[in-house]
Amino acid sequence: MKAVLCKEYGPAEKLVVEEVPSPSVGADGVLIAVHAAGINFPDTLIIENKYQFKPPLPFIPGTEVAGTVKAVGDKVTHVKPGDQVMGFAFVGAYAEEIVVPAASCFPMPSAFSYEEAAAFTMIYGTSYYALKQRGQLQAGETLLVLGASGGVGMAAVELGKLMGATVIAAGGNNEKLAVCQQRGADHIVNYNDADWKDQVKKLTGGNGADVIYDAVGGEYTQTAMRCINWGGRLLVVGFASGDIPQLAANLTLLKSSSVVGVFWGASLAKEAQANQDNFKELFQWSMEGKIKPYVCASYPLEQVADAMNLLLQRKAVGKVVLTMQ
Ligand SMILES: NC(=O)c1ccc[n+]([C@@H]2O[C@H](COP(=O)([O-])OP(=O)(O)OC[C@H]3O[C@@H](n4cnc5c(N)ncnc54)[C@H](OP(=O)(O)O)[C@@H]3O)[C@@H](O)[C@H]2O)c1
Repeated sequence: MKAVLCKEYGPAEKLVVEEVPSPSVGADGVLIAVHAAGINFPDTLIIENKYQFKPPLPFIPGTEVAGTVKAVGDKVTHVKPGDQVMGFAFVGAYAEEIVVPAASCFPMPSAFSYEEAAAFTMIYGTSYYALKQRGQLQAGETLLVLGASGGVGMAAVELGKLMGATVIAAGGNNEKLAVCQQRGADHIVNYNDADWKDQVKKLTGGNGADVIYDAVGGEYTQTAMRCINWGGRLLVVGFASGDIPQLAANLTLLKSSSVVGVFWGASLAKEAQANQDNFKELFQWSMEGKIKPYVCASYPLEQVADAMNLLLQRKAVGKVVLTMQ
């Protein structure tokens, strides 16, 4: 099969596409013929050895796929060859075939294309865990999303609305923010505006946001903490700006607010039941047409570097995917 290989750490241009042996399916595995694989920001960090998860070289990057089942292990009963499925693994997605554990393989919602299904797991899994378990977002509260036009951010916008919050989408590009508005955001704020903190304050009647979903970090985090409500929760989701912020602790004291970390990948093992319950709800919503990944571009496997660079150059809206067939 054809696969993208990371043989040495570095930018996406260092990735190569080669023929490699097909993976073999174990008793508890599902072999999927991959039609599409989602690209996520962490993939761009893993290939540069800048992420907390460090697979040994050489490895096939990518975590999420959609495709058809080719074979299943002896213990697998919930899917069978020929089924359309979506799957999740820590590596191996940028390839024509992958084996995923049975517990991470789900029937594909009929409303989704392969591209949409491949773009689903990471962003909704992360954002629902962040808003529900970590942020305790309540109906009637205000949610501010930093990096709202990106993968996890756009999912947070949609989920925040479904959870009954008023959602303020924040980003650096008005055209991309307009897509957030189409996807349900009540308000948009461009954080390139010098007064964006005051804009958030104004939109919240002077109170500030109850929950801040921060996928950007850097200087934006400190500013966001100056427009958080009393008892607010800042969710530390990611650092797309490339800068891990240093927070002045007095900012939490002033509003009796909390800074809450979010590590969805690790929570899959540590909070397995909560994540299973989350996915039941997420699949139900996807079946009802209430949530759907926004895919802005798809590239063939050979153009993996272009696909990753679209994200890194801030030209992507929602998700970018690779297609194999
Ligand atoms: N904690 C977890 O469990 C978890 C899970 C998945 C992802 N993440 C993290 O979440 C972050 C976002 O991931 P993603 O896949 O959604 O990435 P993405 O699709 O590239 O979205 C990132 C967004 O951040 C904004 N951004 C990018 N560079 C920026 C900069 N220099 N300054 C200000 N804003 C910038 C961009 O919006 P504008 O261009 O419109 O400003 C972009 O839409 C990453 O750091 C990723 O590692 C964390």
